Amino acid sequence: MKAIKVGILGLGTVGGGTALVLQRNASEISRRIGRAVEVTMASVRNLDSERLCDCSQLTLTQDPFEVVDASEIDIVVELIGGDTLAKELMLKAIGNGKHVVTANKALIALHGNEIFAAAQAKDVSVSYESAVAGGIGIIKAIREGLAGNKIELLAGIINGTANFILTEMRDKGRTFEDVLAEAQSLGYAEADPTFDVEGIDAAHKLTILAAIAFGTPLQFEKVYAEGISKLSLTDVAYAEELGYRIKHLGIAKNSHDGLELRVHPTLIPSERLLANVDGVMNAVLVKGDAVGNTLHYGAGAGAEPTASAVVADILDIVRSIDASPSCRVPHLGFQPEAIQSLPVKTPDQFESAYYLRFDVNDVAGVMSKLSAKFADRNISIESITQKEPSLGQDFVSVIFVTQRTREGLVDQAIESIESMGDVRADAVKIRVEHFD
Ligand code: HSE
Repeated sequence: MKAIKVGILGLGTVGGGTALVLQRNASEISRRIGRAVEVTMASVRNLDSERLCDCSQLTLTQDPFEVVDASEIDIVVELIGGDTLAKELMLKAIGNGKHVVTANKALIALHGNEIFAAAQAKDVSVSYESAVAGGIGIIKAIREGLAGNKIELLAGIINGTANFILTEMRDKGRTFEDVLAEAQSLGYAEADPTFDVEGIDAAHKLTILAAIAFGTPLQFEKVYAEGISKLSLTDVAYAEELGYRIKHLGIAKNSHDGLELRVHPTLIPSERLLANVDGVMNAVLVKGDAVGNTLHYGAGAGAEPTASAVVADILDIVRSIDASPSCRVPHLGFQPEAIQSLPVKTPDQFESAYYLRFDVNDVAGVMSKLSAKFADRNISIESITQKEPSLGQDFVSVIFVTQRTREGLVDQAIESIESMGDVRADAVKIRVEHFD
């Protein structure tokens, strides 16, 4: 059977890794799909850079449009990132009747609705397994393996860089900047690392996961995103003392009154599996009504783990390349005409438990005044801890862990407490999830 010809846009970390895996595993791949897959063309920024793969048989060009316009190319793999040129190239490739594979989570999160409609009109596939959680295969697991379920909850560590930073800070006391620089040198971090540390990359990924889990449109603009850059070592340590671990999570919940789509640092009981996912590893908890809780774990970034998912997408496309488009899994896992918008909650409507730290003057009666602010709003308190002042410190830290409540009520209590004379600094608020 005729070999499938692949053109890659971008031969950097993931592009080079993809070509390398396709070359190294060529015979295993043709055993799986019954035909050869060859990378014949790639676009690069610099023709002389060193690459992970063997480029001796590739036509290299600095013009990516040459790849998407090349008549012999069956599948275009977009790995240049960004959402302007990448979008133009992808729509051109689709217009040319080519199937597309991408690892570009920003592009899918921001423009996926338009891209999928264009692909559907041309009867081609756009596959994006590598856009979320690297090589885990979470898109396939949700769209296919769990397709018998009504999905109720997703909660994932979906940014390897943020998890790597939190793990190193906690275990080794390393500074935020030091660990971030290492993540960049290892190729984990985004071109703009604020995407990793401010929760934007995780919000892109959560947008995709929520759409395929609930059959809703991609709606990045409705995701609440908070990063790890303001997290202090003090709260990391206090959380541990209280039996929790702080993880940066993407959470999507489908409740009777709407969706919660949120990305933020979260305290999780330290005995939970999710709390023990460390370093650059990713993990996604998916709760379905039939299956219950499932946990999907693996490397979320890096050349070959990401290439693993890119190559799997290529093989999936090859398997159905001659089949009727109606036999393919729909782009979002639901029939396009059955995609439904659901109301998305604003932060004041979120329901969670909360870790709240207040730095207050060490004077009699302050604790009961603080507690009264919660009681006034019917917020139940799980625990109250007062820390001894450190040497030279003239205030004490009081930590409240609440039971589940509405965030709007917690914010009202915080505002009221912060207006009290005895409070020394802005409160620290971190959401707590038990997943039990
Ligand atoms: N910057 C991303 C991360 C890369 O750290 O998870 C993989 O999407």
